[in-house]
Amino acid sequence: MTGEVLYEGKSKLVCRGEDESTYIIKFKNTATAFNGLKKEELEDKGKLNAEISNLLFGYLTKNGIKTHLVKVIDDTTVVVKKAEIILVEVIIRNVAAGSFSKKYGVDEGTKLNNTVVEFSYKSDALGDPLINDSHITALGIATQAELEQLKVMALEINDLMSALFLKAGIKLIDFKLEFGRCEGEILLCDEISPDSCRFWDAKTNEKMDKDRFRRDLGNVMDGYRDVLNRLKKVL
Ligand SMILES: Nc1ncnc2c1ncn2[C@@H]1O[C@H](COP(=O)(O)OP(=O)(O)OP(=O)(O)O)[C@@H](O)[C@H]1O
Ligand SMILES: [Mg+2]
Repeated sequence: MTGEVLYEGKSKLVCRGEDESTYIIKFKNTATAFNGLKKEELEDKGKLNAEISNLLFGYLTKNGIKTHLVKVIDDTTVVVKKAEIILVEVIIRNVAAGSFSKKYGVDEGTKLNNTVVEFSYKSDALGDPLINDSHITALGIATQAELEQLKVMALEINDLMSALFLKAGIKLIDFKLEFGRCEGEILLCDEISPDSCRFWDAKTNEKMDKDRFRRDLGNVMDGYRDVLNRLKKVL
């Protein structure tokens, strides 16, 4: 069970923690896309995302990445360190897809010459617009030193996750991360799941992530379940 709900997000509940330094986060079954315009309840989504995210955070922790995860309470609930979320989403792209393909007129699946690091401003009201380093520092959202650290951490996470998923027969196309400030450190926060990553089957390029929901491709949770099962085999 969880305590008082402090914030209800699109896919998770943030609840009062066991003490002042923690939150309890509960993963919901709700799926949303296009800034909440499309919305559906998908059976088991909460527990699939929670388990995938917990496994990935555990793997990253083992490999030296500092994360907010304290402990797992049950199949949809975790205790995390309370952080001050830095209001940028850090997006890493290995292969062109989604908004990048649309914006720059590049076919989905085009391999990029180098890894792309993008920031978008976390603002539902503005539709999470793309934002650059000088915008971010000008607006006081983060310092240049913090941005440099976010980039280093995100690229390290990309190397670790790309290698892991390759073993699982999955291409990590792109993903978004959230970071927070906590006791003088920057921690990886929020979640890493098929909601926040693009995963393609390495052989067939079949999509195994939230694009199945966004694009009405059907069997959305089968894709998530497949990601989890393959991940378990390589961890
Ligand atoms: N360790 C943490 N400390 C504080 N806040 C966190 C932490 N981890 C995640 N969050 C925040 O908790 C919320 C999780 O809920 P959810 O992901 O459903 O939100 P959301 O609808 O995506 O909204 P948002 O636009 O704020 O991300 C997010 O606002 C996320 O930034
Ligand atoms: Mg979210």
